[in-house]
Amino acid sequence: MIRINENYLKLQASYLFSEIARRVAAFQEEFPDREIIKLGIGDVTRALPQACIKAFHSAVDEMAKDETFRGYGPEQGYAFLREKITTHDYLSRGADITPEEIFISDGAKCDTGNFQEIFAPDITVAIPDPVYPVYLDTNVMAGRTGLSENGRYAGIQYLEGTRANGFIPELPDKPVDLIYLCYPNNPTGATITKQQLQAWVNFAREHKALILYDAAYEVFIREENLPKTIFEIDGAQEVAIEFRSFSKTAGFTGTRCAFTVVPKACLAYTSKGESQSVHDLWLRRHTTKFNGVSYPVQKAAEAIYSPAGASEVKALVQYYMHNASLIRNEMSALGYDCIGGENSPYIWVDGRMDSWEFFDRLLRQAGVVCTPGAGFGKCGEGYIRISAFNSYENVQNAMQRISQSLSA
Ligand code: MLT
Repeated sequence: MIRINENYLKLQASYLFSEIARRVAAFQEEFPDREIIKLGIGDVTRALPQACIKAFHSAVDEMAKDETFRGYGPEQGYAFLREKITTHDYLSRGADITPEEIFISDGAKCDTGNFQEIFAPDITVAIPDPVYPVYLDTNVMAGRTGLSENGRYAGIQYLEGTRANGFIPELPDKPVDLIYLCYPNNPTGATITKQQLQAWVNFAREHKALILYDAAYEVFIREENLPKTIFEIDGAQEVAIEFRSFSKTAGFTGTRCAFTVVPKACLAYTSKGESQSVHDLWLRRHTTKFNGVSYPVQKAAEAIYSPAGASEVKALVQYYMHNASLIRNEMSALGYDCIGGENSPYIWVDGRMDSWEFFDRLLRQAGVVCTPGAGFGKCGEGYIRISAFNSYENVQNAMQRISQSLSA
């Protein structure tokens, strides 16, 4: 008899963004004439930079001739891309990362979800609340939790983000083994200072723990003194893995390219306390389960590091951040307390009511889709997240409709 992994039964019936899509589809079926503006899932709407398109086209042309055709690429990614990442994203910030420490993949969602599988099933895991649901759900699937009761899985050490701590959780009051952090934060848009991040790195070093640092939104940081990578922090290379993505940076949500940095100095331990290289374990896992991102996509990604590509990416980011300012200003003017939107494309709004109820109200009265904060965890209850990823015209229109419906 084929049996299932019963840990899946502990999960909520559907993934947050699938549930939102289901509710929006039901609404559209009920009111086919209502025009919906989507500021829910953080999905980019602007075209790929021209520099990427040119590189993409010419790589496809290479695939059309036997002389330049390429079959399987290196599982870890082509050296041309890994070298550019090292130079532009790390050495330029004083972070001594080598191309061998970069793993190209088809998404930060997969990497943040998959990375936990190289660790023991009985480690203790600290996960923020509110949080991008992938970190928690993948640990539930792996059997590291008990059942969920009142929005809390037994066995998880929750790191609570609240208005009082500015959505930067305090350090755990007891040792943990694996820590998830995400800055600029999804969903709250909060950012962490170097000093605050140093405290997490020190904690991890003290307890031989490991930090999984999701920096998928670093390109939106505008304040120069905020860390763009955890590897700007002293000692981080021994205790941190970093996830990055081209999705939000350069419009690759549908094109798929990301990377994970696994420093060679990072160690994890056997039950007897013998140290093992996390890099070697991830390399083993990656080469076994992944066959690389396609050559044209990696060429397209590489193009963001050219002078033309870099300036197009800058313009894209400015465009979305202009939207973010509009959303934040309008919601604040309506009397709602907001965080985020200054160094991040997400605005976290205190709706002062049940967050699914607020979601339904915006959908039904304004025809605008947001993301209910409760979908990101118990501490997200009462909040909604509004995404800046849409055209300026749509965002303007959405804010007008929201303003009318909330002032009515
Ligand atoms: C989000 O809306 O939180 C993200 O777009 C989801 C993702 O990147 O997978």
